[in-house]
Amino acid sequence: MKIKNICCIGAGYVGGPTMAVIAQKCPEINVTVVDINEKRIAAWNDEDVENIPIYEPGLSAIVKEARGRNLFFSTEVDKAIDEAELIFISVNTPTKTYGIGKGMAADLKYIELCARQIARVATTDKIIVEKSTLPVRTAEALKNILDNTGNGVNYQILSNPEFLAEGTAIEDLHKPDRILIGGDVDSEEGRKAMQALVDVYASWVPKEQILTTNVWSSELSKLTANAFLAQRVSSINAMSELCEHTGADVNEISKAIGMDSRIGPKFLKSSVGFGGSCFQKDILNLVYIAKSYGLNEVADYWEQVIIMNDHQKRRFAANIVKTLYNTVSGKKIAFLGWAFKKDTNDTREAAAIYVADHLLNEQADIVVYDPKVKAEQIYADLEALETHSSDEIHRRVKVVNTAQEACKDAHAVAVLTEWDEFKGLDWKAVYDDMLKPAFVFDGRNILDIQKLSQIGFVTSVIGQAVKSKKTMKEPSMAN
Ligand code: NAD
Ligand code: UGA
Repeated sequence: MKIKNICCIGAGYVGGPTMAVIAQKCPEINVTVVDINEKRIAAWNDEDVENIPIYEPGLSAIVKEARGRNLFFSTEVDKAIDEAELIFISVNTPTKTYGIGKGMAADLKYIELCARQIARVATTDKIIVEKSTLPVRTAEALKNILDNTGNGVNYQILSNPEFLAEGTAIEDLHKPDRILIGGDVDSEEGRKAMQALVDVYASWVPKEQILTTNVWSSELSKLTANAFLAQRVSSINAMSELCEHTGADVNEISKAIGMDSRIGPKFLKSSVGFGGSCFQKDILNLVYIAKSYGLNEVADYWEQVIIMNDHQKRRFAANIVKTLYNTVSGKKIAFLGWAFKKDTNDTREAAAIYVADHLLNEQADIVVYDPKVKAEQIYADLEALETHSSDEIHRRVKVVNTAQEACKDAHAVAVLTEWDEFKGLDWKAVYDDMLKPAFVFDGRNILDIQKLSQIGFVTSVIGQAVKSKKTMKEPSMAN
């Protein structure tokens, strides 16, 4: 079976970049990305490709190349469904905020709505691909809805989880470590559908990197991969706290253990805590699934990854308060970075949000600079927590356009995102503009601490003992 028309429901961080790359690499396939969010689709269609709604290095060039040729963004969901032989479902699957499983389970209402819409509209056989991250056995529910509410057409359900990371999405899509496709391996129709999707990816991905499995393994592999990655970050963050008490340096530890080929060097960067739309959501979902099978030890094991991550964010804020003589009330704290990692404008679950919230509890004034995040997003993130009134947030939090401006007259600077430009700041000029003693809290381990200490800063870095000019030679133990 040769695929000629693809529809992708959901024009978000996954749907947009993934379909752009498929369109780029498969010019013979028409790819239509649809969404109910009219504003988002309008932005994808903006004449100036720099205004597309998602910032990812390399993405705008691909959109420029393929848009209008074989890549289309539209709000006409029914039409795109009807025309396609293969439909990716790439809608959001957030943590449930109500009812059974509140705060833990994935909310599958958007997925179910897609299934019902496909069933209502489709008049020809379709391959339905789960691109969203879903609990294991969701394919069964999808199949049930499609078969029971459809027009008698045949559906094959595949699982094809996405492993891209934001900030490197295009690189990850161009050279994926693997493509995973799960399907009904026991039936002829299932194998044919899987082969059709394999053929799409084979246009640019070496065949040996395209893995086919049964559908449940594929669904659960995605949750497992995210859990393992997040667990590494929480593990190194747990060690970072021990480092601060013992004079060991967490960077040196990461290097030392990362050179063990069994451990490997990636995802060992200690930080103020992992953020992003998926790690927490997917682990909570995994914990919920384990609990629902009565596997309490499995659930507790993975829950600890989240507990450690919350602790890391909280203790970063608490350290700022403690270091600034136990009060930040009315003091100005400059935040460098708001996004959950560099090279993205995504702020979902960003550590900065929670650190800011803890500091607002202490009545701090916060001035934020992030090269890609807009002020309205920063205010919306804080308002969504519902812990402080909108008035208080607007009174206490300011958003500015340069790092230097953020740091002016500040008592302390906190690095929340590892944007490259923060490394190259004129730190002497920053120091001159700040109140003294001038404190820097590096939540990302990116600054040249020796240099900063020489300038006169008192520096506090995740996973290292506090340094100032006096303590540089012999690091004193943090307590
Ligand atoms: P997103 O919120 O950026 O995008 C989802 C889009 O789906 C939204 O624009 C929304 O309007 C649209 N949508 C929802 N219901 C719809 C419907 N019925 N019809 C049409 N459009 C609809 O989400 P995302 O970050 O792209 O994530 C999507 C899925 O991919 C999630 O399951 C997530 O866990 C998974 N995932 C995300 C990433 C990532 O880096 N963000 C990576 C891998 C996997
Ligand atoms: C992550 C996974 O890396 C992707 O494979 C997966 O597809 C995606 O989740 C998803 O399912 O959404 P993403 O969240 O975009 O990707 O970004 P990561 O690079 O994984 O970073 C996640 C968080 O961990 C960031 O806040 C980052 O700063 C932090 N992190 C990462 C560390 O603190 N230390 C590290 O060593 C690595």
